Amino acid sequence: MEKKKRNVIVGQSGGPTAAINSSLAGVFRTAIDRGYKKVYGMLHGVQGLLEGRYIDLSDHIQSGLDAELLKRTPSAYLGTCRYKLPTINENKEVYEKIFQILDDLSVDCFIYIGGNDSMDTIKKLSDYAIISGSDIRFVGCPKTIDNDLALTDHTPGYGSAAKYIGTSVKEIIRDGWSLETKHGQILVIEIMGRNAGWLTGASVLAKGEDCDGPDAIYLPELPFDIPSFIEKAKSLLAKKASVVIAVSEGIHTAEGKYICEMDESTEYVDAFGHKQLTGTARYLCSVLAREIGCKTRAIELSTLQRSASHCASRIDILEAYEVGGAAMKAADEGDSGKMVVIQRLSDDPYQAGTEVKDVHKIANDERLVPREWITKDGTYVTNDFITYVRPLIQGDVAPIMVDGIPRHLYRKGYQDLL
Ligand code: F6P
Repeated sequence: MEKKKRNVIVGQSGGPTAAINSSLAGVFRTAIDRGYKKVYGMLHGVQGLLEGRYIDLSDHIQSGLDAELLKRTPSAYLGTCRYKLPTINENKEVYEKIFQILDDLSVDCFIYIGGNDSMDTIKKLSDYAIISGSDIRFVGCPKTIDNDLALTDHTPGYGSAAKYIGTSVKEIIRDGWSLETKHGQILVIEIMGRNAGWLTGASVLAKGEDCDGPDAIYLPELPFDIPSFIEKAKSLLAKKASVVIAVSEGIHTAEGKYICEMDESTEYVDAFGHKQLTGTARYLCSVLAREIGCKTRAIELSTLQRSASHCASRIDILEAYEVGGAAMKAADEGDSGKMVVIQRLSDDPYQAGTEVKDVHKIANDERLVPREWITKDGTYVTNDFITYVRPLIQGDVAPIMVDGIPRHLYRKGYQDLL
C-alpha cells in the first residue's frame, strides 16, 4: 500500500532574484496537485525555521490571481537568509532541532530554492537524514542571478537579470550619445556576479543593429590590470565622445585583491565569509578622472538587476516555475540529496528540459565563464557567449499594473525584525 502523503516545507535562501517566487509558485502548485495536505514556507530559510518561523502557504496563495502575482513579484516572498549550517561534527544539536521541527510538522519533503551555499544546506541535511534513519527527502531548486551553479546549463533568475542588464546598458549607451563631443566622458557600469562573469558578459546584449554595445567588458575570470585598463580607456576616448565600460564587481588583481577593496570603505562579510563587493566602478572612475582628466560616471546596477520584474524574461519565469515543480516531483518520487538541473537541448529553436543531479557534485562549486568565451585580450566576450545567453532573455511577462505601477503579492509583517 502506498504511504500516505503528509506535508511539504519550502524555503528560499541567498540573494533574491526576479524569478525565485515563480519557483515557489511551482513548488506550491505541484505539491497540492500531488495530494500533499499542507505546504509550509520557512520564513528566512533554515535560520528562521530554527526559530520556529514558518507559514502555511495556502493562507497566502488563495487564488489563481495570487499565483500570477507571486510569479511577477521580485525579492523572496518568504524572506531568505545567508546561514551556514555547521557540520554534524561541529554541532549535532542544530540537526536534531531541525529534524524535530520537521517531524512535528509531519514533513515528508523539504525543498530549498537557492544557489551554491543553499545547496550546501541540502547536502548536509540529506546526509544527516541517512545517518539518522529519517525518511524526509531533501531536494534543491536552483536559483541565482550569478548563474554559477555546476552541472546545470543555467540557473533561474539569470535570464531576467541578463535581460535587465542588456536593456539598461543599451539605455546608458544611448544617453551618452546626446553629449556634445568636445570633452568626452567615460561611464563605468558595475555589475554583480561575484567571481563569475555571466552577468557582466550579458552587457553585450546591448549590441544590435541600432547599438554597438559596450566598448569594453571586464569579467572576474581574468586578472585585472589597472595600467592596461587606463591605456584601453584612453585609446577608446581618443575615438569617441562617450565610452561605456562594463566591469564585474568581482574583478581583482593577479594577486587576488578585489579592485573594490582598494577603495577601503567596505568590509562587510556574510556568514559564508563572502565580502560585500561594491565600489569597483567608483574606484575605477576616480582613477580615470585622475589619470585622464575626463568626466566620469560610476553606475552600480546593484539591487536593480535582480529585482527588475517589470523587465523579466518570459523564458526565465516559466523555467523557474517548471524547476520548482520538478523539485517537488523529484522529492515526491523519492529523490533526496539531489538538485534539479536544466539541460539545453538546442539553441535555435531554444529547447530545454530538467533532470536531477547529485547535490554533492554541485554544492560549494562555482561554474565560471569558459576562457574561450572571453576574447584573447580579455576585454570582451565572444559570439559563443552571445549564442548561449540570447535564448534565455526571450519573451516578456506583462506586469499586472495598478495605478500605473506593477502590483506584487506581499506578506503582511514582512518588515518585522527577526
Ligand atoms: O549571490 C547573488 C548576489 O546577487 C551576488 O551577485 C552579489 O555579490 C551578492 O548577491 C550581493 O548580495 P547582498 O545584496 O546581500 O550584498
